[in-house]
Amino acid sequence: MANIVVLTGAGISAESGLKTFRDLGGLWETHPVEDLASPGGFKRNPQLVLDFYNLRRKQAAAAQPNAAHFALAALEQKHNVQIITQNVDDLHERAGSSKVLHLHGELSKVRSTQNPALIYDIGQIDPENLEIHVGSTCELGSQLRPHIVWFGEMVPEIEQAAELCRKADFFLVVGTSLLVVPAATLLFEVPEHVRKCIIDPSLPEFPKIPNLYSIEEKATVGVPRLVEQLLGG
Ligand code: APR
Repeated sequence: MANIVVLTGAGISAESGLKTFRDLGGLWETHPVEDLASPGGFKRNPQLVLDFYNLRRKQAAAAQPNAAHFALAALEQKHNVQIITQNVDDLHERAGSSKVLHLHGELSKVRSTQNPALIYDIGQIDPENLEIHVGSTCELGSQLRPHIVWFGEMVPEIEQAAELCRKADFFLVVGTSLLVVPAATLLFEVPEHVRKCIIDPSLPEFPKIPNLYSIEEKATVGVPRLVEQLLGG
């Protein structure tokens, strides 16, 4: 049984119908990121931000895991698989992956703006519509916000993620442009002698790293193929 660590990004959920951020027609192409994914944007126009995440939450809830998500879950039959995802959807968990670390938060959770440790499942707050609005408050009476890491905010899970990467026997990267830090720095935490693979239909610029190879395919093609090899098929 090997320790397999997988870093995923928006590309793994693209074939489930969820937009990526920086591809053609991606979210940040049609929405001003500084208005929607920053503390300053939330301060300036909270309802605009809440509406954006209410819509994304509905889209994620309506989406289904795809063959790439299911293949990674199936890999647990033989290996210890740790998913480290930049995604805020729950498609890895719904596909059956048992170890999923969310670096950038989760759409299905909201938290207090006064005490960030007060985190609620959206189903507790609005089971019918899964929405929060200006005026939706926590138990302290302060405004609720999405439990998402916005630009300029700390990534609380990054040290735990780095520790997992240092212990990897195989490292896989799927569907990320590797443009956002600190997530992209995780590649450097993996020991040099460990085999690493990137799966992406249009490979991002990636640094020269030992033992790194690539599969220029969509996630639903490249991931099941690699998983079959790792399962000894
Ligand atoms: N299969 C695999 N990869 C794909 C597919 C697919 N079907 N479609 C697109 N991709 C790849 C693109 O080629 C690109 O390299 O997915 C990547 C998506 O990159 P981004 O849109 O930049 O998404 P991501 O890397 O996850 O963004 C990182 O930025 O906006 C913030 O917090 C947000 O978590 C996000 C972070």
